[in-house]
Amino acid sequence: MAAVDGHELVIERGAGVHVWDTDGKRYLDGAASLWYCNVGHGRREIADAIAAQQGRLAAYHVFGDVANPPALELAETLAALAPVPGSKVFLTSGGADSIDTAGKLARLWHAVRGEPARTFLLSREHAYHGTHGIATSILGMPYRDGFGTLVADTAQVAWDDAGALEETIVRLGPERVAAFVFEPVIGAGGVLVPPDGYLDEVTAICRRHGVLTIADAVINGFGRIGEWFGVERYGLEPDLIVFAKGVTSGYLPLGGVVAAPRVAEPFWAETGRPFSHGATYSGHPTCCAAALANIALLRQDDLVHRARELEGRFHAALRALEAHPLVAEVRGGVGLMAAVALEPDVVAADLAAPTRLWRAARDAGLLTRWIRDGVGLAPPLVVEDEHVAAMVDALATALDAV
Ligand SMILES: Cc1ncc(COP(=O)(O)O)c(C=O)c1O
Repeated sequence: MAAVDGHELVIERGAGVHVWDTDGKRYLDGAASLWYCNVGHGRREIADAIAAQQGRLAAYHVFGDVANPPALELAETLAALAPVPGSKVFLTSGGADSIDTAGKLARLWHAVRGEPARTFLLSREHAYHGTHGIATSILGMPYRDGFGTLVADTAQVAWDDAGALEETIVRLGPERVAAFVFEPVIGAGGVLVPPDGYLDEVTAICRRHGVLTIADAVINGFGRIGEWFGVERYGLEPDLIVFAKGVTSGYLPLGGVVAAPRVAEPFWAETGRPFSHGATYSGHPTCCAAALANIALLRQDDLVHRARELEGRFHAALRALEAHPLVAEVRGGVGLMAAVALEPDVVAADLAAPTRLWRAARDAGLLTRWIRDGVGLAPPLVVEDEHVAAMVDALATALDAV
């Protein structure tokens, strides 16, 4: 806090792929804020939908048998978009909320089916899943220390090795493993595209050992990698899908979990078991109205598929930066997500080098996300080629400054 106190970047306005600070300086929003502003800033349609819903019913809970029209419509819309027909949707307030929801649901699912010892939640190194209880406990990034005892029964596996997952399941005993949580393309952990066949292999391993698959589509979803939930890109049908961010493009906070029918079934059966879990703002009507308006825009402008159209040109343009002596590689290639990674010896000699690059890019008018070895990029899906060219120019300037 000492470093930022008095030096805050105060953003006050946004339109399309740009935002402005209180001094009137314009920035290209190269990371769509925190990987979420998929439809771009300043979309009137979402603001109007929010205002209209506030005028009708700003907020009401959805506990017990209580519902509201936007929550019902959103749940039905998302279930219809889900890869497995007949899926059910549980709404929350964000990403980590949803990870915790999915983790508890996975454990309870096994318990109600007579396997209460299946409690282990496995995740990948470099994974980011948020900062709630379970989410913190399964992080593959170094943000777990200093908080005392975290949630028990978690284990981490290499991010890119399906064999390591199977070894861990066998070592722990499959009868103790509840679920494997994975981002199809890892985002905040460095934009790591899975090796060919990896996601099919881990899915088969989980099926073989009775372990549920939980896809974290918080960044990958809603067009970021060219599909509604991102998992479709790899032909996956996960047992649970966690979403947030792009579902509202961040206009209001909302997340949720899609449960495939076989996971939902014990909780929907006549003699079913309740899932005693929910948050004050689950199914918040105004947040749901924002999501519906956002989804309408994604459809209207076909933004869900736009990343696929642009990804080749986007990555080709960014890869030109590999010619810079400080750059080790430009990672990505799937959707509008990329990382410009600095040479390992540069980062080893100066751990602050990624933040200095991020800062220099900002000085050059480009907002990025700093990651462990460089900066991450995920512009709004309304980005045009000219903006991509401006991103590359700003990064080249920033690299020279670093
Ligand atoms: C992949 C992934 N999962 C979960 C989360 C947590 O979401 P939230 O910050 O809304 O809790 C994030 C946030 O960046 C994320 O990138």
